Amino acid sequence: MEAVRDALNRPLRDLRISLTDRCNFRCQYCMPKEIFGPGYAFLPFSEVLTAEEILRTVRILQSLGVSKVRLTGGEPLLRRDILSIVEGLSQMNLEEIALTTNGTLLPRLAPALKEKGLTRVTVSLDALDDATFQTINGVGYPVAQVLEAIEAAAKAGLHPVKINAVIQKGVNEHAVLDLAGYFRHTPHVLRFIEYMDVGTTNGWRMEAVVTAKEIFEMIHQKWPLQPLPPRRPGEVARRFRYQDGAGEIGVIASVTQPFCRGCNRLRLSADGQLFLCLFASQGFPLKKLLREGASDEAIRESLRALWQGRDDRYSELRSVMPPKPRPEMHYLGG
Ligand code: GTP
Ligand code: 5AD
Ligand code: SF4
Ligand code: SF4
Repeated sequence: MEAVRDALNRPLRDLRISLTDRCNFRCQYCMPKEIFGPGYAFLPFSEVLTAEEILRTVRILQSLGVSKVRLTGGEPLLRRDILSIVEGLSQMNLEEIALTTNGTLLPRLAPALKEKGLTRVTVSLDALDDATFQTINGVGYPVAQVLEAIEAAAKAGLHPVKINAVIQKGVNEHAVLDLAGYFRHTPHVLRFIEYMDVGTTNGWRMEAVVTAKEIFEMIHQKWPLQPLPPRRPGEVARRFRYQDGAGEIGVIASVTQPFCRGCNRLRLSADGQLFLCLFASQGFPLKKLLREGASDEAIRESLRALWQGRDDRYSELRSVMPPKPRPEMHYLGG
């Protein structure tokens, strides 16, 4: 089946679904607790897509080219129907069903997720010492329990487990070598992410970005690295292997080396809006169509036209674009 192509000739391939805008962490760079406090109004449950609505959307998008689905949030494992969502997806013959999580509920859920057909998990972990990690996650959650979650996922067969670390200047630069040292000689794939200007609440400044080049140099000086070729077009992480054979890492340079050229990602927010870019100021109101009784065929044709008109490439234009309102990452998906 031929995937629909956008105005820059990019095929539709990945769908990233935010299952909820809620999370049990308050990471400074994503949901700072000063803003997302006890009085914060999250989406009412009646506005959040049901499992059936999500599965129907994926089926329609599959016929336009989607072959990989990533479940994110917020924290996707907070959804009580997470297992039936995964089960429904696994009946669709997708190439991959991945999930991004903070790991808190993973030891309990990993075996069932695997059994229902989840392919892989990515666990967020930004430091190896409690002092730093507990400050970053905003709720005092200890490192040891995230490490346990990673092992539980691997043991359940959800491998290779990927570990995502967002690096910020003056906050957790030391975590680069700590994490690299810890995950060398394991089958897990550690990826470092440049701190991004997503949303408008995290107070992002360019000076707070530790660049991919700086991250690479830190590691390369201690444990020499060598580049690996991309696995597939549009891959976000640049891959490297340790020259001594201790495994693989990735660096995601969304700020300093944007990868919009190959961007085949469509995003579905928890309340059923489709976003053509992580930085798009507006979404397409899919939920309205779903709830107003539109046929699969009518929805498919609207979505085909939506993707065909897509020319978004925010990260490439960042330095020349005036700042616009943009969605928060916990709402739109990590
Ligand atoms: P796999 O290859 O399936 O493991 O996933 P991935 O490489 O797509 O990585 P993942 O989904 O874990 O995304 C990692 C991080 O990269 C996200 O949390 C974002 O910070 C960043 N990222 C992913 N997709 C995009 C994108 O389309 N645009 C930008 N600017 N950043 C992105
Ligand atoms: N910059 C980069 N990555 C971010 N994430 C959330 N906020 C940001 C940001 N400001 C990503 C991280 C985290 C995932 C859930 O979302 O990769 O692991
Ligand atoms: Fe939650 Fe992930 Fe955002 Fe942290 S980065 S607040 S774990 S959604
Ligand atoms: Fe895709 Fe937008 Fe990210 Fe560029 S900035 S890679 S177009 S989501």
